[in-house]
Amino acid sequence: MADRQRLNVFLDSLYRGNSALLENMEKEAHRADVPVIRKGTQSVMRMLLALKQPVEVLEIGTAVGFSAVFILQNSNAHVTTIENYAPRIAAARENFRRAGVEERVTFLTGDAQDILPYLAGSYDFIFMDAAKGQYSAFLPQVMRLLMPGGVLVTDNVLQEGEILESHYAVERRNRTIYKRMREYLREITEDPRLVTAVIETGDGMAISVKVGKDGGGTTSTEAAVTDGMAISVKVGKDHGAGSDTADSVIKKESI
Ligand SMILES: C[S@@+](CC[C@H](N)C(=O)[O-])C[C@H]1O[C@@H](n2cnc3c(N)ncnc32)[C@H](O)[C@@H]1O
Repeated sequence: MADRQRLNVFLDSLYRGNSALLENMEKEAHRADVPVIRKGTQSVMRMLLALKQPVEVLEIGTAVGFSAVFILQNSNAHVTTIENYAPRIAAARENFRRAGVEERVTFLTGDAQDILPYLAGSYDFIFMDAAKGQYSAFLPQVMRLLMPGGVLVTDNVLQEGEILESHYAVERRNRTIYKRMREYLREITEDPRLVTAVIETGDGMAISVKVGKDGGGTTSTEAAVTDGMAISVKVGKDHGAGSDTADSVIKKESI
């Protein structure tokens, strides 16, 4: 495999740009050291949104609203998003106002652990991007809220590859997080209600689909793509601006 850094530069050159507002939000977030989804993650998310065309999205971990605005600008969905850190809550509110998306966002402020049990809706797309050590704790509620056929995307699952390191090679403060992340990956890949693929893109993403009660009856897991694969979705002319005409045709090619 070519040098990873060169490969990333090449892949970044293939990613479609965002709106000027999103580009600005991304730069501001980087300057302020606020983590936001990476370019590769954006590319996979954009494709998944075009494929799934979600109506109700739940996001756990708003930060300053970058990924929420990204989802809104790449779909016709309504987004419910949760954040518990006061300075980021204020920044996200301002960003939702700047983006003119307030009517399409339900912004819930507080700890997701407390909020999730009170949510009654059902969601066809859930984006998990909060404290990495808490994913397993959120999972039972996430499974309750995710509709059959719904997509669960979990970000940062590979932790820069650190989750492979032995217990002693990892800084003490990260040990518990990595251990919990490995447990979470086991849970979502072994759960018969989910079909999960774990891919290396960005900081590692797990993409899961909730299958119905009879959804094959077996666990189906695809692990890290080895030699590159391009997945494209053919969208209708007006996609993203009020249309529901995506053809959901997937082309897979080796690259
Ligand atoms: C990686 S950032 C989210 C980035 C955002 N999704 C984006 O790409 O623009 C994670 C955010 O989750 C928030 N968070 C962590 N644990 C949380 C919890 N238990 N409840 C609510 N928010 C939480 C953090 O304060 C942080 O702002």
